[in-house]
Parts: sequence; structure tokens; C-alpha cells
Amino acid sequence: MTVHFIGAGPGAADLITLRGRDLIAAAPVCLYAGSLVPEALLAHCPPGARIVNTAPLSLDEIIAEIAAAHAAGHDVARLHSGDLSVWSAMGEQLRRLRALDIPYDVTPGVPAFAAAAAALGAELTLPGVAQSLILTRTSGRASSMPEGETLENFARTGATLAIHLSVHVLADVQARLAPHYGADCPVAVVFRASWPDQKVVRATLATLDASIGTGERTALILVGPALGATEFDESCLYAGDYDRRYRPLGTAPRFPEVL
Ligand SMILES: C[S@@+](CC[C@H](N)C(=O)[O-])C[C@H]1O[C@@H](n2cnc3c(N)ncnc32)[C@H](O)[C@@H]1O
Repeated sequence: MTVHFIGAGPGAADLITLRGRDLIAAAPVCLYAGSLVPEALLAHCPPGARIVNTAPLSLDEIIAEIAAAHAAGHDVARLHSGDLSVWSAMGEQLRRLRALDIPYDVTPGVPAFAAAAAALGAELTLPGVAQSLILTRTSGRASSMPEGETLENFARTGATLAIHLSVHVLADVQARLAPHYGADCPVAVVFRASWPDQKVVRATLATLDASIGTGERTALILVGPALGATEFDESCLYAGDYDRRYRPLGTAPRFPEVL
């Protein structure tokens, strides 16, 4: 018996890995975080599977479901939105499972930031403009931010920011970032990336209408010069005169063994 933690992807039902789909199809129990996991994924569950929406459950109740499946020798497909490495509450579940000696494994998923970048048709790390992407959030009712992890500190780096769980405090985000990035810095808000009702708003830190954040909360705020840049270097990797392992050049290439 194994608990399979599976990244369910950002919303579109076909943005799950083949491995994730096959694990769902083989598990007699499926626990899914109903707030963001698309219900269409449940169609992969085998007939007669026990399917539980964990959105209204406490951690104790979720672990009780898993422990019951363990006692019955039933595999569990545990679905969380996007990828499991960020804001999935997987860490606390794994800690409980280790204490109970219940086996688990983890299958990654497509994170929301990647779906949002795809919706924008944007590369977030453009040569010479931004080479780092910071996944962050602002503090919420249930989670405060560790000291030092402030928007201002991240903004000082000039990197591209992907700000989660914060569209409801958009005006505050704009006010805190503008002194560092400049009022003209491009910003994009992507609501429900990859869902059928996906919506994209592009503006600058100065022109973004903060009132768009008062409704739908499943949204990502992307900020940084890479979002609007048209003047950026081409990557050396594909430059015609760049000698590299997979395309050795000249009579004395740097990596001759590949020839
Ligand atoms: C609890 S976090 C889950 C993040 C998820 N584990 C991931 O890998 O992206 C939920 C937040 O992620 C963002 N998010 C999740 N799905 C999204 C989507 N389809 N479009 C835009 N933002 C999304 C929103 O900021 C939302 O408030």
C-alpha cells in the first residue's frame, strides 16, 4: 500500500502527467483538494473508488482517511493543485505518514506559475534582463511570512516575481514594488490559468487597476522587466559561433569527444 501524492496541475484536466493519471486510475481511494483540483480528473478513478473532497476536512481527518486505506491495504491517490513542492500542505501530511510508517511517493505536477507564463506566452528569464524567478506570496490569515521574505527584499534583486495568494491585496503589492521596479514596470495578472475561463490583465505597476483583485482569487501576479522586454540578448547557447558540447565548432572544439 502506498499513498501517491500527485500534482494535479493548474486547472486544465489534460495538464496532468501520464504517471499521475495512471496512478489515479489504479488507486481504490482518491483524496483531492477540491478547492482547486479540477473535478474532471476524478473521471480517471476506477469504478467504485472511494473519492473524498478534503477541502472541508482537518489534517486529523485526512490522516484518518489515509490510515483507514492503509489498514485495508488500499493505495491512495492524493491530489493537490499545481505542483506539490509549493503551498500544497504536503509537508505536514508526509511528516504524519512517516510517524505512522505509511509508505508514500510523490509525482510532480505543472505549477500555476508555469501555466500563467504559458498564458502570457512569456519566458520569465530573458538573457540580460532577468535570470531568476522568485515564487512568493504575501502574508495571509493562516500563514505569516518569515522575517526577511518581504516583497521589498525580493524586489531589490530585480528578478521576475510570481506572487501567489495575493490578488486581494493588489494595491498594496503595487505600492510596495513600484519604488524598486519603477512605475513603468510591466505586470500581468493571470486569473485561473489554463481553466476554460482563464483571464489575463496586462498593465504597468502604475496603471494596473487594483479593483480587479476584489473578485476571483485564483490568480497569479507576475511582475518584472522580463514581462515586457523586447530588447534582450539572444542566448549564447544557440549562437552560430558558440562552441558547445552538442555543436562543436572549428578545428579545436572545446568538447571534441562528442564529435
Ligand atoms: C495554495 S496555492 C497552490 C499552488 C500550487 N501548488 C502550484 O503549484 O501552483 C494557490 C495559489 O496558487 C495560485 N494559483 C493556483 N492555480 C492557479 C491558476 N490556475 N491560475 C492562477 N493562479 C493559480 C493562486 O495564487 C492561488 O491563490
